[in-house]
Amino acid sequence: MFKPHKLAIIGLGHVGSAVLARAIACQLAADIACIDIKPEVAHGEALDAVHSLSCSYVPGIHVHSGGFEECRDADVIICDAGPSILPGQKMDRLTLAKENIAVIREVMKNVTQYTREAVFIMITNPLDITTYVAATEFDYPAGRLFGTGTTLETMRLKSIIGRHYHVDAADVQGYMLGEHGNSAFPAWSTVNIGGVPLDSLDEFYDHEKALDRQEIAQEVVNTAYDVLQSKGWTNTGIAMGACRLAKAVLFDEHAVLPVSMPFTGEYGLKDVALSLPSIIGKNGVEKRIPLHLPADELEMMKKSAESVKSVMRANQV
Ligand code: LAC
Repeated sequence: MFKPHKLAIIGLGHVGSAVLARAIACQLAADIACIDIKPEVAHGEALDAVHSLSCSYVPGIHVHSGGFEECRDADVIICDAGPSILPGQKMDRLTLAKENIAVIREVMKNVTQYTREAVFIMITNPLDITTYVAATEFDYPAGRLFGTGTTLETMRLKSIIGRHYHVDAADVQGYMLGEHGNSAFPAWSTVNIGGVPLDSLDEFYDHEKALDRQEIAQEVVNTAYDVLQSKGWTNTGIAMGACRLAKAVLFDEHAVLPVSMPFTGEYGLKDVALSLPSIIGKNGVEKRIPLHLPADELEMMKKSAESVKSVMRANQV
């Protein structure tokens, strides 16, 4: 029997409300449930969204609030529960580990009372640690739970390189890999624009100055903090990234996107979740693509793993 797609959003703060708005705009689901530790916030965000529907492309969808029981028949769950770093604090998502490991353990205890079927997309920072905890401590089927990872950094890399060469960011190919955070790195070996490889970009595309790889790598990481310091939070970019991933699941796209999942020996790494290109479809991550990285990028991946694992050890994960 046909069942319309259902999306559950856990956490309706700045990010969750942006996910809600983007999910409606992208026509992701016929049924959207809003879940928040403050039921009145979930109610208010759902009601506000309902008022928008008559002018949307999907006036008939059902947007509502509820408890974790709404996860029972959800096809996709997007979770951004827990606090984010604030302007003036240390610009390192890893500082949120102690508090948000506890938040995510509580979320997963509640979610797994109702489902281990829904594809669970994690946003909560520190993303790679919360993803590892959720994916390994609650018997969730491998692949059906993953984190947005460096999907957002990759969007930022494409935007910055597209601006540098005056081309559409959508035509910039390549990945940021590793941690969703300060040790994320550009896999330059994967970057091309319209099929033109990295070393030939200056020859074919307009630019005011030669591409400085170190400068770009730093700008991709720092631009998140520029947004945060300017407006107090980030939400639009991550909401689009999360909805892009949810769309790949709901439409069984088999899209290739960089997401975070526990490593199972790739590059000799285990006991840590980091981002790799992955095939995303109706079952979540259907295949991981451990690219053949050149020595310098492999070194960056291992540094990223150590950066995350050191905080995991400090929090007994
Ligand atoms: C950012 C948050 C989602 O990078 O970590 O915008």
